[in-house]
This record gives sequence, C-alpha cells and structure tokens, in this order.
Amino acid sequence: MTADNRGAFASKLGVIMASAGSAVGLGNIWRFPTEVGRNGGAAFILVYLCFVFLLAMPVMISEFVIGRGSKANTVGAFRQLAPGKPWIVAGFMGVIGGILVLSYYSVVAGWTIFYTQESLTTALWADQDFGALFQGFVSHPWKPLLFQFLFILLTHLIVARGIERGIERFSKLMMPALLAILVFLMLFSLTMPGASRGVHYLLKPDFSKVTTGVVLSAMGQAFFSLSVGLGTLATYASYFRKETRLVQSAFSVCVIDSIVAILSGFIIFPAVFSVGNVAPDAGPGLVFITLPQVFKTAFEGLPILGYGFSLMFYVLLLLAALTSSISMHEISTAFVIENYHLPRRRAAWIVTLVCLVLGTACCLSFGPWAGIKIWDRNFFDLFDFLVAKFLMPLGGIMITMFVEWYLNRKFVVAQLTNNGTIRVRCLGLLLFLVRWVAPIGVGIVFLNEMAN
Ligand code: ALA
Repeated sequence: MTADNRGAFASKLGVIMASAGSAVGLGNIWRFPTEVGRNGGAAFILVYLCFVFLLAMPVMISEFVIGRGSKANTVGAFRQLAPGKPWIVAGFMGVIGGILVLSYYSVVAGWTIFYTQESLTTALWADQDFGALFQGFVSHPWKPLLFQFLFILLTHLIVARGIERGIERFSKLMMPALLAILVFLMLFSLTMPGASRGVHYLLKPDFSKVTTGVVLSAMGQAFFSLSVGLGTLATYASYFRKETRLVQSAFSVCVIDSIVAILSGFIIFPAVFSVGNVAPDAGPGLVFITLPQVFKTAFEGLPILGYGFSLMFYVLLLLAALTSSISMHEISTAFVIENYHLPRRRAAWIVTLVCLVLGTACCLSFGPWAGIKIWDRNFFDLFDFLVAKFLMPLGGIMITMFVEWYLNRKFVVAQLTNNGTIRVRCLGLLLFLVRWVAPIGVGIVFLNEMAN
C-alpha cells in the first residue's frame, strides 16, 4: 500500500474528533474521578493539568510529527525515518502495547455494557447490595466474557470500515453526543441538594495534600488519559493531510480531554457528596458500586429519573471507551496491513482474534483465574502494569528523544509549520519542552515506578 492510498481523515473536525476520541475514554470518566478522590481533590487536578500541557502535549506533538512525517504505521514510521537504527523498537512497543491495552481495557468496557443493560432492565433498582452485584458479575465464569467480546467486536466493526467511513465518521458522531450527555448530567448533578460540597471539593485546592505520590499519580494519569507513548496518535497522524495544523490540533485535543475529565468530576463528586453516605475516595469501585448507590438514593421518590440518569451515564462510558479502543486497535491493524500487505478486513480480524485470546485471560483474572499470578499479578494487573508503568512512559521518552535528538531539526520544524506556510506561536518553547522537559519529566516517573 502506498502512502497515497492508505486512507486519510477528510476534515479538520474529523482529525480533532478522532484524536480527542482516542484520548477521551474510561481514563477520563472512570479513572480520573478515582484518582482525584484518592489524591485529595482540587490540588491533584491542578498538578494534573500542568502535566497535561507540559509533558503529555509535547509527547503528543512528537507523535504527530512522526506519524504525519512518515505516513506509515508506527513500526513503518521508525523504519522509514531511521532506517537500520534501533529506534524501531519504540514502534514495536506501540504495536504490542496497543494489543495489551485493548485486552484489559475491553474488560472494563464490557462491564459498562453490562451496567447499561442493568439500567435498562431496571435491575439496578432492585433492593440489592451493589458491591455484591459487582463482585458476582465480574467473577462469573462466562458472563463478563460475553460483554467483553461484544465490546471487542464493536471495536472491530468500526476499525474494519476504515479511516474515513469507520473511525472518522464514528468519532464525529459520538464525540458531540458524549459532550452533550456530559453537560446534561453535570447540570443535573449540580442541582442536587448539598451538591455545593462536591463543587468545593473540586475547586478549593489544599496544597498540603500534594505529596510525591500525588505528583506521580497525576503524571501517570495525564499519559494514560491522552493515550500518548504507544504511537496511537502517531498512527492517527499518519492519516492527517498536509494542511492539518499539528500544534493547534494537539492543543485542542488536550483542552477537550481536560474538559471531559473535569466535567466527569463535576458529575460524580457533587452527586457523591449530595448523597452523603459514600466516600469520595472509594477507589475503582466508585463508578460501578458507589454510583448506582448514589443514583438509587438520590432518586428514591422518582425512580424514572434515576433510570434515565444511570442509563445515560453508562452509555456515555461505553461510547467514550469505544472511541479510545478503536485507536488502540488501529495501531496494530495499520501495522499488519502495511507490514504483511493484507487487506484491512483481514488485518483487523487478526488483531481482534489476538485481543479476544489475551482479553479472555484478563477477564478471567477476576474469576476462575484469579489465582494465576505472574510476578505477583493476575493477567489484568500485569497488562495494566506493563502498559501504564512501562511501555507508555518508556515510549514517551523514546518518542520525544527521537524527535528532538535524532530527527533533523529542519524536518521537525517543517512538519510543525506545514513547510513554513503557517506561524506557530511559542515554537522555541515547544521545542524546549520536547527536548528537555518531557523526556526528563517522564524519565523521573519511569524510574520511580521501576523502583517501587
Ligand atoms: N486515553 C484513553 C482513556 O482515557 C486510553 O481511556
């Protein structure tokens, strides 16, 4: 396949919506509130925002330069820009990372389909123990697998349709829908009695709570949330047109991703504080155990509103997960298409089948395979560890170093300025961030994680 017939995003909006769709996902709506709750609220958010713009955005821009500059999948990009050099390892790390993320991400995404179904069938409103409901479901020997497979197949169907008809069209439809649902839910949450305590929790920083652990968690969250370090965005950028403004697009994606994360906080915490009997630091169960409790208590007298509220929330989570999972699938699909010269549909099936096999191991980690441990972790935790603590940061360091230390400066500037046809404000500062701040900052997180 040549660079010219490999597909492209048709519009500027498509570029932003697909890239923002890759970034916005469970990381914003499920992981972000969990991290905010665990790390003390507003102060964490401020530190997080600094890392989004100072560390993760430079990595994203570097990925854009590599992707658009090569017009190839992530392995092909390094092969083309640095022939015969070991940088290609970063490309293979991305392909493996994309498959690993999808394998465990799809487990949680499958739970969102189950909760959507529970909200529809009103089972969430039966008088039940939500902790037991969650535990019973995730540890069931086959039920969560069904939902996970369904999610992987949905992802497959979109990717198999290609760039413009599949990924771009889906993201352009879903991202505005997602934003609309978020704003609606936030307005609703803010009008609940006692919601102001949640707003206070999100807006009043207490800097005495900022410890090294909080700083490191904020950095990790910024990377995960923006999908940087694995070449996901390099792959998408390989479908950008020559007019696409890389810096402006990266900035828009970072702004949209941050807005979605903060909106999610404004949905969850005012509701949690309003209900009163649940702790904001309830951890990963916040969305699957605590929130149903919140919906139930909040709408005791008006269950119809409660159904609507919970249904909308889990559909939102599902859509966000899908716009991210397609980008992870695409990293490997693009590689298989171009490396083995296979048609898109067949390549997509190969990736899907690998994810179904590895995903099964992750899903069963909560049930029958809970006892199987590698390095003291079950498959789900092992994959999460390998991706979030190893491949993403290491990939981030390699990608920024590759762009600023290996690639020709003229080539990089030509990509950023569209061959000198546009002016990029703060170009010097940006290159400084890419050259020094991002690799050193990410290196610190990486070494710290490895030491623990
Ligand atoms: N960036 C994706 C998310 O936030 C992985 O879920």
